[in-house]
Amino acid sequence: MSADDTAKDQPSGPGPTTLWHGRFANAPADALAALNDSLPFDKRMFAEDIAASRAHVSMLADVGLLTDDEHDGIVAALEQVEAEIAGGHMVWAPTDEDIHTAVERRATELCEVAAKMHTGRSRNDQVATDLRLWTRGAIDELTPLVLGLASTLAGRAREAHDAGVRLPGYTHLQQAQPVGLAHHLAAHAWALLRDVERLGEARIRTDVSPLGAGALAGSSLPLDPAATAAELGFAAVFENSLDAVSDRDFVADTLYALAMTGVHLSRLGEELVLWSSAEFGFVTLDDAFATGSSMMPQKKNPDVAELARGKSGRLIGHLTGFLATLKGLPLAYNKDLQEDKEPLFDAVDTVCLVTLALDGLLSTASFNAPAMAAGADDPFVAATDLAEWLVARGTPFREAHAVIAALVREALSDSEASPNADRLTELVAAHPDLGPEAAQRLAPGAAHRSRTSPGAGGPDSVAVQLDRLDAALAAAAGAPGGC
Ligand code: ARG
Repeated sequence: MSADDTAKDQPSGPGPTTLWHGRFANAPADALAALNDSLPFDKRMFAEDIAASRAHVSMLADVGLLTDDEHDGIVAALEQVEAEIAGGHMVWAPTDEDIHTAVERRATELCEVAAKMHTGRSRNDQVATDLRLWTRGAIDELTPLVLGLASTLAGRAREAHDAGVRLPGYTHLQQAQPVGLAHHLAAHAWALLRDVERLGEARIRTDVSPLGAGALAGSSLPLDPAATAAELGFAAVFENSLDAVSDRDFVADTLYALAMTGVHLSRLGEELVLWSSAEFGFVTLDDAFATGSSMMPQKKNPDVAELARGKSGRLIGHLTGFLATLKGLPLAYNKDLQEDKEPLFDAVDTVCLVTLALDGLLSTASFNAPAMAAGADDPFVAATDLAEWLVARGTPFREAHAVIAALVREALSDSEASPNADRLTELVAAHPDLGPEAAQRLAPGAAHRSRTSPGAGGPDSVAVQLDRLDAALAAAAGAPGGC
């Protein structure tokens, strides 16, 4: 989708030759062109622009506004323009203020009758059509990448489950209760599946054709918007021409879906930063997905994970910035709307980059099962299980909590020789309401195995969950916008 822009600074020739110059006596000022021109970024939509023009001229022929010969001549010209841009040999003119202008200008040079191509059309419905086509395509390209990362997490989760890897789960970043590593990785996969769902919802609202709305009020010509919509594969057609040219909800929806994805990637990144630290030591990154320090020879840095975290900032910024652009706009088209493309393009590119890099990082990382088990098997992390052991024997939970809390306090404050954790086991074994059977709940792996409720972090529940996750991934891959 890239295009060559080398000839943009050619001399402009003797007079103004913009599409709208007839109304003006003077050529546009350079400062106006520098601000106003969107070609540098919207040339990325050239294929969509040409597809929409092709659909438009075919509709014009069908309703009798073009002869077959005129239609064929324009389509041939459009094909040549497409080949020139795709091949990188399009000679852009200084008056090409945007991709629509450029394509029409070049098509008309190649075939005079292309001057009829803009019949019943405005750049206002044209740009909205192009951007909807582009966004639909981008969602279709991005969704499999997000699903791919979710599948990598599911695959690593399956591996960790088979190996019985457990870690301490955290609340407030304090060790809380043990869970399978599979459970933890799968949690991130479920979040990404919701992102895929959100992208799919944005796609539904994107998939509506605005072509035929004209500048704002439709046309006196016998246009057939349903025909162009069908040819471009849109699922629906606009109902109101003012809304059609003003509506950028689909951009905001997509930016939201991407910002939310970015937030999920950021949270995953943050954990990888923590886990790869010497303090946690839960994960070792493959050399291919880590960086070094120019000064400190021993360093191995988690830049991928940090950038996953850092780049979420610009994704959130694109969403909030664009909502601010939209909020004061009167109907219908305003040039402010030209500000829709750069944030959208950048958000798509950013999520794509981060998703692929994180996928590679997670596919190649080694998890340190003994370091994780050391935390997961700490008897204090099984304290809730001890309370539940009492609850299962009739003690009200609040009382059970108090009994165990008192033992925890005593174990932590005891100055005897045994380490605090062993001391807790001793105290439990000696307690009249608990005893050796309850102390078994503190044995390595016991508190992990005990979490058997639906959706819980213990191996039996996780086995069910992983099957459901695989099924959800397969269903998402089969949905529109999926793989
Ligand atoms: N480059 C413009 C945009 O991106 C195209 C539409 C221009 N419309 C107009 N009435 N000047 O929004």
